[in-house]
Amino acid sequence: MGFNLKGRSFLKIADFSQREMLFLLDLARDLKRAKYAGHEQQTMTGKNICLIFEKTSTRTRCAFEVAAHDQGAHVTYLDPAGSQIGHKESMKDTARVLGRMFDAIEYRGSSQALVQELSDYSGVPVYNGLTDEWHPTQMLADMLTMLEHADKPRQQISYAYVGDARNNMGNSLLMLGAIMGVDVRIIAPKELQNEDHIVEMAKARAAETGARITITDDINAVDGVDFIHTDVWVSMGEPAEVWESRIKQLSPYQVNKALMEKANNPNVKFMHCLPAFHNTETKVGADIADKFGLTELEVSEEVFESPYNVAFEQAENRMHTIKAIMVATLGA
Ligand code: CP
Ligand code: NVA
Repeated sequence: MGFNLKGRSFLKIADFSQREMLFLLDLARDLKRAKYAGHEQQTMTGKNICLIFEKTSTRTRCAFEVAAHDQGAHVTYLDPAGSQIGHKESMKDTARVLGRMFDAIEYRGSSQALVQELSDYSGVPVYNGLTDEWHPTQMLADMLTMLEHADKPRQQISYAYVGDARNNMGNSLLMLGAIMGVDVRIIAPKELQNEDHIVEMAKARAAETGARITITDDINAVDGVDFIHTDVWVSMGEPAEVWESRIKQLSPYQVNKALMEKANNPNVKFMHCLPAFHNTETKVGADIADKFGLTELEVSEEVFESPYNVAFEQAENRMHTIKAIMVATLGA
């Protein structure tokens, strides 16, 4: 299966067909094997890629940098304080400047409208490295990891996302399931379930792909799933004041051993885009412990440090899948 995705932006997975997503996943697998086998071919030599991060990052930045380097491209990193964007220059003007210097641009920030504007006015492929609404590059890594672990055809895979479903991960994992034609279950308290327009988009895709969508506040809906995903209870850009209410809303949805056992599946795996709060070894984790007396949040230390956890493979797959996106849209 081959697709010409040259020149395309990657702003949200809803912009892509199932076959295009499968092509990117195949390409990621090929690139992963080529790197491990020591015969990777460079297709991006001489290309320049701008990486704009208006929010912090470990995995996404490193994945773009390593993938670009492996493929022979150069990157320029603009940190949250290191550019004129927003303070002195609009996104529309920034786009028209960067489009004249770079072959592609990655952008992480709050607003989906801004990453869309960057794509509309730069004239080069733009990659969404996370907005408040979507985290599309993460989705290829999550799907690749699930395909690598599920000993069954893709259509038979089932996964649950348990936690804050109104955030970029909750929205993206719902759409991913709908596009890939799998059994996807969003488990969240009613007030933290995906907004109606997102659910409608997902249902429309599910009608085409045969995906099965469940949205519920009942944690027993993990019964039979192959994967349980979660994410932080408070996302980047949200005020610290929401911790108290989120802890109240989401404590019953913590992914702990009892929840993993509710899957009734000896092969069930735990997934998380990371970073995760599972102990007090981070500043935020220690502050929450001081303030609310909780030493583990969305996932228990026991599950995180167990063989259930495939989140580090998921993290590695960020690099192979981001490389596939760049090679497909920009490579020779
Ligand atoms: N999962 C993810 O996007 O991680 P970073 O915030 O470290 O990039
Ligand atoms: N929902 C999280 C994802 C981090 C990768 C956030 O936006 O902070």
